[in-house]
Amino acid sequence: MKVIAVSNYKGGCAKTTTAVNLAYNLAAEEGKRVLLIDADPQGNASYILWKYNPNADTLLRVYGGKSFKSLIRRSKYKNLDMVPSMAELERVNRESDARGLDHNELRRQIDNIADRYDYVIIDCQPTMQFLTISALYAADLVIVPFKAAGFCINGLELMRDYLEDAAQKREYASALNYACLLTMFDSRTKSLNRVVELIEQDAYIIFDTMISLSAICESAEDKKVRKPLLKHRKNSKIAADYLELTKEILSVIEV
Ligand SMILES: Nc1ncnc2c1ncn2[C@@H]1O[C@H](COP(=O)(O)OP(=O)(O)OP(=O)(O)O)[C@@H](O)[C@H]1O
Ligand SMILES: [Mg+2]
Repeated sequence: MKVIAVSNYKGGCAKTTTAVNLAYNLAAEEGKRVLLIDADPQGNASYILWKYNPNADTLLRVYGGKSFKSLIRRSKYKNLDMVPSMAELERVNRESDARGLDHNELRRQIDNIADRYDYVIIDCQPTMQFLTISALYAADLVIVPFKAAGFCINGLELMRDYLEDAAQKREYASALNYACLLTMFDSRTKSLNRVVELIEQDAYIIFDTMISLSAICESAEDKKVRKPLLKHRKNSKIAADYLELTKEILSVIEV
């Protein structure tokens, strides 16, 4: 089993879109057994993949003594399970200091179900609080989606500091690999020159796959749709981009 966290300090850079579509593609196209952990109290990944049930438990309960296994729910799709999220999950962040919660606990809990899944994908929220740091402590690979816009590119440095800190402090002894993923790629944007510079300077590891800008992403989130891209628009460029990313990820981290 490999754990892939999708994280960036920056908001709105396609973390959830990436987590959802990677999880779906691994399950539906590659026949992998996948668990998606929604570690964002906004619950966006749950909104797309799961039939909402207000009585379901979130990751919060694992810090209240419940077993991790008991939190797992079926998604709408075969081979793809979920630990759903909703607003209550934010309590973990608020209470973590006072309760002395351990950032290493999430990986320990995930290890208990390692025989049931090939991939665990964690969708993180855009803040570096307890839940996100726990996901970085748990990950074999962190995908850092970013846009070709000045502020987003500058923010990668801060993200790298958090990743290096997690790699040093965490108990899980395996290497913490990370790679940046260019999203909302628009060839007309001047900021793309900055991305080319980053690639030439070897400043960051960047996936070969680039995810194009597409209005289809927003339409897939529509209340009446709520589908992964491949289910929503099978033949679109953006669905193909995420398939290409899935293959690239398998080539670096196949289980
Ligand atoms: N390639 C794309 N082209 C156009 N729009 C996109 C693309 N990817 C994502 N979006 C849209 O951008 C918005 C933000 O995407 P998403 O929710 O995946 O980002 P996020 O990083 O998870 O946000 P947050 O930080 O709030 O968790 C969404 O409305 C989504 O549909
Ligand atoms: Mg999100």
